[in-house]
This record gives sequence, structure tokens and C-alpha cells, in this order.
Amino acid sequence: MSTSIQRNEDELYVDRLMQDLAEGVGKGEIPASIFSNERVYKRELRQVFGRCWVYMAHESEIPNPGDFVVRKIGEDDFIVARDTDGGVNVMLNACSHRGVQLCRSDSGNAQQFRCLYHGWTFATDGKLRGAPVWKKSAGTMCKEANGLVHAAQVGIHQGLIFATLDKSAPPLTEYLGGIGWYLDLIFGLNEHGVEVVGPPQRFVIPADWKSPAENGAGDDFHLVTLHRSASVLGAFPVNPVENMKGYHVQAAPGHSLSLSMAMSEEDPGPRFIGFPEELIETFNTSSITEDQLQASRMARVVVGNVFPNLTFIALPVSEDSSKPPVAAITVRVWQPKGPDHVEVWNWFFVYKNATPEQKQRSYSAGLGTFSMAGLFEMDDSEPWATISKTGSSVAAELLDFKLNYQRGLPGIGEAELVESFPGPGVVYTPRYEEGVQRNLYKFYAGLMQSTPGEWPDTEVAG
Ligand code: FES
Ligand SMILES: [Fe+2]
Repeated sequence: MSTSIQRNEDELYVDRLMQDLAEGVGKGEIPASIFSNERVYKRELRQVFGRCWVYMAHESEIPNPGDFVVRKIGEDDFIVARDTDGGVNVMLNACSHRGVQLCRSDSGNAQQFRCLYHGWTFATDGKLRGAPVWKKSAGTMCKEANGLVHAAQVGIHQGLIFATLDKSAPPLTEYLGGIGWYLDLIFGLNEHGVEVVGPPQRFVIPADWKSPAENGAGDDFHLVTLHRSASVLGAFPVNPVENMKGYHVQAAPGHSLSLSMAMSEEDPGPRFIGFPEELIETFNTSSITEDQLQASRMARVVVGNVFPNLTFIALPVSEDSSKPPVAAITVRVWQPKGPDHVEVWNWFFVYKNATPEQKQRSYSAGLGTFSMAGLFEMDDSEPWATISKTGSSVAAELLDFKLNYQRGLPGIGEAELVESFPGPGVVYTPRYEEGVQRNLYKFYAGLMQSTPGEWPDTEVAG
């Protein structure tokens, strides 16, 4: 009895908090208690990670039949496997007999998956093949109906594989909306496409997953404060004032990004994020539009977050100050591990047709900036850990502490709406404003309050 009363109280508490958030986000007020809150997190696992399209892997990680990686949706493990027909399957990593963990490796190549408990064996597309003494033990039992459980939907954009547990979620293209246009500026620049370099780095930060996600949505102001040392050391080639030129984009509900961009041909470079000249010569409109190619040409840095927890960063950086900067691409998943820990899964991407030397430089530059030992990463993780401490505090709850996300609201700062930008979404300049974060939390509030089976009808924050 007391358990069910407790559960109801928790639910009511989260309802009130989400109502506060939904009402406050348009005014730039976010309750601190949404961070690292056990009760909120419990709902997030169902309402956010159980509903959204979640990034699983890049196609280049599983190029051949039988290749697989094990990834997570929320806290649950999924096998992402290439089958013998070349299809990509996303399947719960649990045997359909008793639910025993099926695959015990992070990645590899397998002809089949065999459960260690009673030996049920599954093909790489999840179909049940059989088990020892099948005829005697299972006879005519239907194999078709007893395969692995698949994610409700799987979709691929520029080789980026996503999956959702929600049948009612819109198709991937619709879910991504305008952010697909901007992903193409990094991943779609030629017909060869990109590939990951090695397995992902993984490391844990004592923070709520939302802190890095909202940072990835376009928190540029911290560049001039928290990351000042990167400019002082000469690791980042664009001067701080010039770098704030560009745009903040609310590309679709929940999905935001920031473009540091040359505003005219006279503005200094680099062009194309600092990719080497010989590689730039191969960029074309085989899979993107002329407008996209031109936007990528003017871009110096692209940072964005696909809701909920996929951040992509492309930036020019030098791994050696005696050398010119080179474009580094990092893709990171903010994998929740409870309300107050996030595991960073960090991949580096390179263009397949880059030379080995270019690939190595890009990888080294990425390692030096966005990695366990990276200059930017070490700066970032410390403040996020303290947001977690504030959010989970009794004081924040009792004093109804609201955090300030007001920059760029009418009359606050100089955010100017840009109508002429060729890309989709609501676009502001310069990059000081916080509409990109408000967009993330508006969508988040909508999902957290949504009814299962009905997709929330949210618009960008504007
Ligand atoms: S639990 Fe997997 S074969 Fe029985
Ligand atoms: Fe940062």
C-alpha cells in the first residue's frame, strides 16, 4: 500500500516539475531540480529514451555481413548487426527463451548468436535458427515467432544509424526534420562519405546527461570563458570575436545547432571547417544541394545536438602548433548511467577518401581536444558535475531554484532573427543567445508530459 502511495507522490512531483518547466521555458526559466533527480530520471528512461530516435552506430562500424556492435537505448543493450543480405538490425540483447544476455562482446563478427544458457541460436537478422536436440525438445514450435525482439523502427541518415522503441514515433526523416540538412554539411560532402576511426572512447562524468546535450545544442558563450586557454595556446585558430559570428539554429523541435561562420567572402577562414585543400577539391553536390555546399564552405565550426543525446562537432584545430589547423569531427553519445552519471561514447570521423596522413592528423587533433585527455573535454566536464550537485540538492527543491536561460529573449541581448539563411529552422545571429537550449527543453517538456502512443505536437521554441 505504502509503495503505491509513494509511487503516486513521485509521479505527481514530476508532473508539477514538468509543468513548471513547460511554463517557464519560454521565459528562460528552467527548474534546477530537473537535473540529477532520481524521480525525473525514471520518467526520462520511458518518455525520452523509450520514445525518441536514439543514435546507435555508424554504418562504417559494421561494413560486412555478421559485423555487430552492442549499443544502448536508455539503459538497455541492443545488438546492431549487419545480416547476410546487408540489412541493419537493431535487436534487444536478450535471448527470447529466458531473456539471458545473448551477446557478451562489445563488437565483433559473428555468423550467429548462441545463448550460453540452453543454446538457442539466432541468425544475424535475429531469426531463431534452433537449439540442441531441437526436434525432441521443441518439436514443431514456431521459429518465426521466437526470434530476437527488434527495435520498433530503424532508420539511417548519411550512414548514421538510429533506432526507436516507439512505434508511434514519426519516421526518422520527419523526426530529424531540419537538422538533417545541417548533418549533411559535415557528413555528406562527397560520394565517398565518412568512416569512424577505431572503436569509441568511453569515459564517465558525474553529471546529468542533459548538461552535455544542452552544451552540444550550441553553448558558445563558454568558449570565451571556460575554454579561453585553448585560444591562448593557439590550439584554436579563429580569434574569439570573429568566432562568435555565425548563427544559432533551432532546426526542428528539440534539435539545435550552432554555426561559426564567415559572414562574407572577406571574412577570414578557414573555409570548410579546415578540411585540407586536396580533400576540399573532392567535395561536390552528389548528395547535397548547392546551398548546403556553400554553407559548409563558409562554416568554421559546426556544433549541434540531435535530441536527446547525440552531439556532433566539427572544428578546425591543430594537433601541433607548427602546423596549420585541420578539421576534426567528433560524434558523441551522452549515455545516461543513472540520474547523476553520464558515459561519454566518443567517435572520431574522417572522410574515406582522405589520405592516411590527413586521417591521422584529424584523429590526433580530435584526441587533443574532445577526448578523455582533450583540452576542451577536461574544461567542460567539471562545471557539468557541479550542475548535477546543485540540481540534486534539497535547497534547489525547497527554494524552487530556477536557472537562467534568458539570453536572446526579446529585449535581452542582441539576438536578431535571420530570415534569409538558406537552411531550415529558426535562425538567430550572433551566437550568444540561448534559444537553442530553450528549444531542447521545450521539446523535452513536451515528451515528458506526453501520452504513450501519441507523439507530442511541439514546435521549435522560436
Ligand atoms: S535462456 Fe537462452 S537458451 Fe535458454
Ligand atoms: Fe565546451
